[in-house]
Amino acid sequence: MSAILSIDQGTTSTRAIVFDREGRKLGSAQRELEQSYPHSGWVEHDPEQIWADTVECLRGALKDADLSVGDIAACGITNQRETTVVWDRKTGKPIYPAIVWQDRRTFEWCKQRKSDERDAWIADRSGLLLDPYFSATKVGWILDNVDGARERAERGELAFGTIDCWLIWNMTGGERHVTDATNACRTMLFNVRTQDWDEDLLEFFGVPRALLPEVLDSAAEFCRMDADILGEPLVVGGVAGDQQAATIGQACFEPGMIKSTYGTGCFMVLNLGKEFVRSEHRLLTTTAYRLNGEVTYALEGSIFIAGAAVQWLRDAVKLIEHAADTEDLAKSLPDNRGVYLVPAFTGLGAPYWDPEARGAIFGLTRDTGFAHIARAALESVCYQTRDLIEAMGKDAKPPHELRVDGGMVVNDWLTQFLADTLKIPVERPQVVETTALGAAYLAGLHAGVYESLDDIAQLWKLERRFEPVQSPEQSDTNYAGWLNAVKRVRTAD
Ligand code: G3P
Repeated sequence: MSAILSIDQGTTSTRAIVFDREGRKLGSAQRELEQSYPHSGWVEHDPEQIWADTVECLRGALKDADLSVGDIAACGITNQRETTVVWDRKTGKPIYPAIVWQDRRTFEWCKQRKSDERDAWIADRSGLLLDPYFSATKVGWILDNVDGARERAERGELAFGTIDCWLIWNMTGGERHVTDATNACRTMLFNVRTQDWDEDLLEFFGVPRALLPEVLDSAAEFCRMDADILGEPLVVGGVAGDQQAATIGQACFEPGMIKSTYGTGCFMVLNLGKEFVRSEHRLLTTTAYRLNGEVTYALEGSIFIAGAAVQWLRDAVKLIEHAADTEDLAKSLPDNRGVYLVPAFTGLGAPYWDPEARGAIFGLTRDTGFAHIARAALESVCYQTRDLIEAMGKDAKPPHELRVDGGMVVNDWLTQFLADTLKIPVERPQVVETTALGAAYLAGLHAGVYESLDDIAQLWKLERRFEPVQSPEQSDTNYAGWLNAVKRVRTAD
């Protein structure tokens, strides 16, 4: 009984995967998640849809693997982080749709209160910066905009949770209101040094403590899923936000090890070890994982649009039919001809933190074709990664190689261009679905399938290492063009 079931509830889809002990995929199921954009800059999901899809995927993955609950040691959950759900404790019904991490509706609130001193004050406690990205202002918005919500929250009638917490609540018919330390640390309400909800932050953001879940280690007994879901109860033994789960799936367990995941956005995480280090270069300090009460910290660079730029090419401007088409298009050109796309569709994340910036394409000429635009979209992912690496190299020791994963890195052209842009080798593991794998590893640690992180580290296998081949001068010239393009979309320094 060493198979592990893993739920990966992401921004654009919900998936469940069954892994064997070695991390091989035995079966899976997936459902696309509908996105709702009620106003410019707003992004919402239907929490009940997320729950229904999760159940369907859990059942589908077991069926696909031809296994039953009796064959599964435990279940893990990983999820899109920061996305905020507030629900009624009695009925279990959300009082408002889930406000997604990409949602910018609270930027004005943040702007009015933002200052260097305030950012330092917040970063000292939460490791984060004042930005609409995190859950705190989203919770505040719901309490201020849903009739009677604030009073009900104060009376203890409502509950708040990130998606992991919402799923666990539903798995137990409201018995368990818990989250893990990696999800809690993305709310901007949690003190990453004391590992507790922070009274000062709660007061500043106007969030009553009565709303909040209990915070557990990332490998712990989160709940026993009700038997009616899969036919028998199943223990959820591991939970982590998706980027932290990917850090575990990539076995970045030593200080200095670094990974970057290319999904909707791109998130780079550098293991810092046991010491909290506050970034001086507008990166985030986050909890990589908390095991047996001991925190491992990380520096994180968060980019909001990576794979979503390719999705935009496919779904909005219809330049391509399939995401994979971008590889041949990019390859068909000897260079970018000076065309740069800045995909600031939901503002700019690290290290700029400019929620009002918007996307743009620069350098168009009469002979610009759609191949140039497609290439510029892929290149933008690499340049944004370099922005992060440059910032990380100032806060910590400059990384000398990078482990990558996520749907986009199956694109060889992109991964090679990434190595060229960063001027360091880029390593792609055999399993690129490291997010789901990381959650499975956590659940496996709790269930005793693995004894330690060393056990897990041994399972990491390289598929291909991309060495930089472009001249460093060319790489710097390309990057200078990007920096110039970014300068032109920014609304503040
Ligand atoms: O912080 C947001 C992140 O957790 C979302 O990840 O993979 O859904 O783009 P993803």
